Amino acid sequence: MLRSRIIGTGSYVPEKVLTNRDLEGMVETSDEWISTRTGIRERRISAGETASGMAARAAKAALKAAGLSAKDIDLVVVGTVTAEMAFPSVACLIQAELGIKAGAAAFDVSAACSGFLYALDIADRYLRSGGAGKALVIGVDKFSNLIDWKDRSTCVLFGDGAGAAVLSAEKGSRGVLSCRIHSDGRHWDTLYCRASRPDNPFEKGNEQPYLVMNGNETFKIAVRTMGQAIKEVMEDTGLKPEDISLLIPHQANMRIINAARERLKLPEERVYTNLDRYGNTSAASIPIALDEAVRDGKVKDNDIILFVAFGGGLTWASAAVRW
Ligand SMILES: CC(C)(COP(=O)(O)OP(=O)(O)OC[C@H]1O[C@@H](n2cnc3c(N)ncnc32)[C@H](O)[C@@H]1OP(=O)(O)O)[C@@H](O)C(=O)NCCC(=O)NCCS
Repeated sequence: MLRSRIIGTGSYVPEKVLTNRDLEGMVETSDEWISTRTGIRERRISAGETASGMAARAAKAALKAAGLSAKDIDLVVVGTVTAEMAFPSVACLIQAELGIKAGAAAFDVSAACSGFLYALDIADRYLRSGGAGKALVIGVDKFSNLIDWKDRSTCVLFGDGAGAAVLSAEKGSRGVLSCRIHSDGRHWDTLYCRASRPDNPFEKGNEQPYLVMNGNETFKIAVRTMGQAIKEVMEDTGLKPEDISLLIPHQANMRIINAARERLKLPEERVYTNLDRYGNTSAASIPIALDEAVRDGKVKDNDIILFVAFGGGLTWASAAVRW
């Protein structure tokens, strides 16, 4: 039986650091409010970089870690909602930038903060069915482009970045054990960003294309859906909480992460967090955290890693992987 094994990871965050103190000079907020309500202390902001540029850096690092060349890749799936172009996709731009062979399949998936797990699920199905041998799965977002920097209720939460993983179809017990993706479009207006162009003369009354969020509602739905998603992959695999070596949740809010941790009764050291340094990087948050955990030596062969995410759509997703 074929499984999709993650054989290399990489990530990239922009150099520019925007601290909570910096935000105090931009909107009426405080380091104390942001850190106690969210756990975020600083985030990275891309100045002049594109989503595909950040993704390419993460992808190159992942290929290097996997010991592969771009020519080995058959499939590129990118989770993003902040592509620099309406078309082509970030995936096609990555294909050109990295020199991935012509004729490979490359496309983007729109699932906001669940984007990486959606991309992982799709790639996993291609690999297990023999449709591809090696896949590049990327999560990248540049939310600094979507944010209303005068809106304190949203601008303190997000940051920019990219993360990537190389997957290989292999026989054996290691790899993706279960992956689940879900959505409920009825709640689209809980968290959204219009793609309208306010200067189109034929479309009067277009809103500014800024991110809009009902924070309290998003919080409640996130806690509920993440709990359900975790339960699902545990049931699929027969895993018990004590089998989980590391939970890597979407990095949106420390209080949401703690709710997921408490549900599994996991000690703090078995949950990876980096949102204090990067905030919510949307589709990039899980692959950046995974790459850091791997580099920190927190992930060992045959460890069971659990991923869980939620985001605009609304979407939510989870995966269990034997490393
Ligand atoms: C956004 C969030 C941190 C707000 O926390 P909260 O404890 O629910 O806070 P509230 O929304 O109740 O706001 C409390 C007060 O703080 C104020 N406030 C909001 N943002 C603020 C900021 N950056 N600084 C200071 N005060 C702020 C509000 O205006 C409100 O003031 P009021 O009581 O005078 O009306 C929280 O709801 C959250 O994390 N939601 C999920 C968001 C998320 O994860 N989004 C991404 C999904 S992928």
